[in-house]
Amino acid sequence: MTEFPNLTVLDHPLIQHKLSHLRSVDTPKKGFKELVDEIAMLMAFEVTRSLQLEDVQVTTPLERVTCQRLKGKKLVLVPILRAGLGMVEGILRLVPSARVGHIGLYRDEETLQPVEYYCKVPPHPGDRTFIVLDPMLATGGSASAAVTLLKDRGAVSIRFMCLVAAPEGVERLSADHPGMPIYTAALDRELNDKGYILPGLGDAGDRLFGTI
Ligand code: PRP
Ligand code: URA
Repeated sequence: MTEFPNLTVLDHPLIQHKLSHLRSVDTPKKGFKELVDEIAMLMAFEVTRSLQLEDVQVTTPLERVTCQRLKGKKLVLVPILRAGLGMVEGILRLVPSARVGHIGLYRDEETLQPVEYYCKVPPHPGDRTFIVLDPMLATGGSASAAVTLLKDRGAVSIRFMCLVAAPEGVERLSADHPGMPIYTAALDRELNDKGYILPGLGDAGDRLFGTI
């Protein structure tokens, strides 16, 4: 439990084990990418727990049986470029039918304000569930702007998933989008004066794509 009612910290032992390696400065680019992928997949199991099901009739080799399948239009994963891209494939292995939207945002290094450069999501956003993906929730500016972009296009059911969150970011995102579920693998201590999460894991995009 934390002071944030809409925040869930996923403390599964496998997630925490992998996160410890992800944080390490000694983990090279290849291992970092694999860990982001694996942690996102493990987290998705819990993040998708409340998806709705509907009854379907299935014929087994022996008889007819009532089973359950995901209801409604396909789920949408929305990575925030760049670093959110690293979370997509792992989740798609669990939910291969999910659609993938993209939101292009970067954080201005001086002002720490998000700068938007791209947004593409599937049709009928009002009828779908969206999972916004970004490994890092720092000031919360990027995540909040991404959710606003989705709402402007008609999305209603939105949840946010990150690997490491700062309290400042959770507070900002909760204030800007009350009630929206936020999932993280860790709630860290604070931001430093450059807006980096402490203890954090450094610059997620740079470590994923080798642009350090
Ligand atoms: C990082 C990260 C988030 C953002 C978080 O991206 O992936 O999108 O910063 O910071 P905030 O919560 O203070 O907005 P960055 O802007 O470095 O862009 P990149 O993914 O292209 O490297
Ligand atoms: N973006 C990152 O990639 N890392 C941080 O610690 C903060 C913002």
